Amino acid sequence: MGRGRVLLALLPLLGLACPGAPWELGAGWQCSFSASCECDFRPDLPGLECDLALNLVGQHLVRQLVVKGVREFVLSHAPVKPLVMSFHGWTGTGKTYVSSLLIRYLFRAGLRSPYVHQFSPVVHFPHAEHIEQYKNDLKNWIHGNLTRCGRSLFLFDEMDKMHPGLIDVIIPFLGPSWVVYGTNYRKAIFIFISNAGGEQINQITLDLWRIRKDREEIILQDLEASILEAVFENPRNGFWKSGIIEQHLIDLLVPFLPLKQHHVKQCVANELASQGLQAQPDVIQAVSESIPYFPEEEKVFSSTGCKMVASRIPFFL
Ligand SMILES: Nc1ncnc2c1ncn2[C@@H]1O[C@H](COP(=O)(O)OP(=O)(O)OP(=O)(O)O)[C@@H](O)[C@H]1O
Ligand SMILES: *[C@@H]1O[C@H](CO)[C@@H](O)[C@H](O)[C@H]1NC(C)=O
Ligand SMILES: [Mg+2]
Repeated sequence: MGRGRVLLALLPLLGLACPGAPWELGAGWQCSFSASCECDFRPDLPGLECDLALNLVGQHLVRQLVVKGVREFVLSHAPVKPLVMSFHGWTGTGKTYVSSLLIRYLFRAGLRSPYVHQFSPVVHFPHAEHIEQYKNDLKNWIHGNLTRCGRSLFLFDEMDKMHPGLIDVIIPFLGPSWVVYGTNYRKAIFIFISNAGGEQINQITLDLWRIRKDREEIILQDLEASILEAVFENPRNGFWKSGIIEQHLIDLLVPFLPLKQHHVKQCVANELASQGLQAQPDVIQAVSESIPYFPEEEKVFSSTGCKMVASRIPFFL
């Protein structure tokens, strides 16, 4: 752990907040490290790193992988391929939360940026019988949006609900060779989110807990193969037999670990703070105890991660 990291880890204890985004301090220097400020793209890497260190609970792997991967990609003048990330994990472990943070620190207008595109199967692709139409639409949207700006971000949430076969139409945009009409499609970012692989992540984390291996010692290699197998072999998700997996187009496979009770307590404290409320220990305790844990006997991990925290708090104030 370097000195910078130690400091970052201490920030929450010291009650400090992250510095504002650099473009709020004045224009100019933020674009100097690379020609990356196209369209609305204004990457604030220190801000991202700080916010993750302060607010993301219990996900050491996620923090390491995302910070390193995004940093390398953003600082590269000529990326060899688009950045493709896939988030996997149980419900309420922070997948959507981290994707929102990323978008906020990469694009000036954040989620409202015209260069950030979110796709949700139930909204954009609801009917299985229209899959051919959806394939056409999706390909045209990605192509159209990338022609407008290469620095675009595409977020596919709920990949579990995506019809198998549909996502493969974007394969040409994910590889290294896609430069057409002078548009550099290699500058784009794709994020996939799914619960697929979550059961495997939970089981492996539980097995390691049972042999008393420190949770913070878990590395990607402990989980990677099981996650990939789970998503590739399961016909009930969008990556079933997908060429995206087969052709190794995912650069960053990001596993979200199941959260323990002390993580839930941190989420309660964060939520209270964000509502401007006092961090009362009895409230934090009561909320964290009101949430279900698994497995049945040992009750180690939260069944809903931190998802129920915000809605439970009012009952205990
Ligand atoms: N690891 C975490 N650190 C801090 N807060 C978290 C974490 N996980 C979840 N939360 C809190 O819980 C809320 C719900 O989490 P989020 O929506 O990111 O879960 P998810 O992993 O996307 O779940 P699902 O698979 O059900 O979509 C977040 O808005 C955030 O406030
Ligand atoms: C960009 O994608 C959106 C969907 O997010 C779509 O509605 C729009 O038509 C696309 N734009 C272009 C220029 O293709
Ligand atoms: Mg989510």
